[in-house]
Amino acid sequence: MAKGKVDALLGIVFGDEGKGKVVDVFTPKYDIVARFAGGPNAGHTIIFDGKKFVLRSIPSGIFDEGKLNIIGNGCVIAPDLFMAEAQELEAAGYDLHSRLHISRRAHLILPTHRVLDRAYEAAKGAARVGTTGKGIGPAYSEKASRTGLRVGDIENDFLPKYEALKARHLQILRDLSYTDFDITEDEKLWLQGVEYMRQFTLADTEIELNSALAQGKHILAEGAQGTLLDIDHGTYPFVSSSSTVCGGVCTGLGVPPTAIGEVFGIFKAYSTRVGSGPFPVELFDETGDRIRQIGHEYGAVTGRNRRCGWLDLVALRYAIAINGVTQLIMMKGDVLDDFPTVRVCVAYQKDGQVTTDMPYDTEGWAPVYRDFPGWQADLTRLSSEKDFPEAFNRYIAFIEQETHTPITIVSVGPDRAQTIQRTR
Ligand code: IMP
Repeated sequence: MAKGKVDALLGIVFGDEGKGKVVDVFTPKYDIVARFAGGPNAGHTIIFDGKKFVLRSIPSGIFDEGKLNIIGNGCVIAPDLFMAEAQELEAAGYDLHSRLHISRRAHLILPTHRVLDRAYEAAKGAARVGTTGKGIGPAYSEKASRTGLRVGDIENDFLPKYEALKARHLQILRDLSYTDFDITEDEKLWLQGVEYMRQFTLADTEIELNSALAQGKHILAEGAQGTLLDIDHGTYPFVSSSSTVCGGVCTGLGVPPTAIGEVFGIFKAYSTRVGSGPFPVELFDETGDRIRQIGHEYGAVTGRNRRCGWLDLVALRYAIAINGVTQLIMMKGDVLDDFPTVRVCVAYQKDGQVTTDMPYDTEGWAPVYRDFPGWQADLTRLSSEKDFPEAFNRYIAFIEQETHTPITIVSVGPDRAQTIQRTR
């Protein structure tokens, strides 16, 4: 029986909950930080030593000396984007080589996967997913169809394998009559990225992680995207292509379910979504615009406007169940500081039917709200839960009561110091 534990830190709505900031606060407590799903579709913003970094594939423990960071087998990796991300960190003085291991079993995103991503989206027309365009879906599809290339492939006789797969992609693109692209520059950088990746430790990370567990080490599994973007449990087909939920920690790192310890579920005091797909709490009015402006709700990867709405407890309860969340972390309460009334969606309704359970398809369901008086106070200046305004306490207590899950951390601003631990 493993002595160590894997705690999971998961976005439990549509991603963009602010995992980057929390991981940064959490990492000192862990020996290893590991990414288990997704790839450069993620954008974890971290402000470190006064400098802002957006991490896409590299785990957020990379800033701490002596900490091992792992890109797990459940991830997909684009060598050119990895190189750009890593070189920026190296230029800022972080020694990645001693701190980062990449799973040989992680799959590669080829330049042609990105073209295929665009081609498939174009073919879908109005039903398009609104992907990040990073080739995520095509790379994971290839994994499932057992034709993909893995990081381990770059260690021997790589080019013929690459050329064969590229040729297959080009044939698919011709069949789709999608010809308006040129990958020459992209491919050059990508192949440089492959060479650059060779300088890193490409490892059997599942073995490393299990021996770390046997030694009693503590591992933080850093989630990407969110539960409602999960390939199985999200709002399919408007989802990403990987297992973003707690089960994905086991498959995406090769660790046993018995090693999972705490499951931290991160959510914002309100809701956002990027890309297409149903979003019952979406606000199309001035309130939605205000939340977007105050919360700076623009995509870290694509720069797109995030769709905004009130907190959705139907979604939250569902995600807590799917993931086995043991503690909740609420982000960005301060964004609602000035609102005289704060609303919470407690159920969905459609054609006279009301449900508190997540429907198979959330399209066409409208929110049933419960209103709370706003706290109308500046939360960003607070450093202890003792100073929380009463109205804010009532908001938190209601969420805890409805979800049967404690909110143990409340974040009230982007700075590390604006992270308040609550006593239970
Ligand atoms: P893909 O992951 O690029 O295939 O995009 C699929 C869907 O997931 C799109 O709606 C994206 O906007 C969304 N998505 C992917 N990654 C993230 C993320 O890190 N945060 C929020 N949304 C994401």
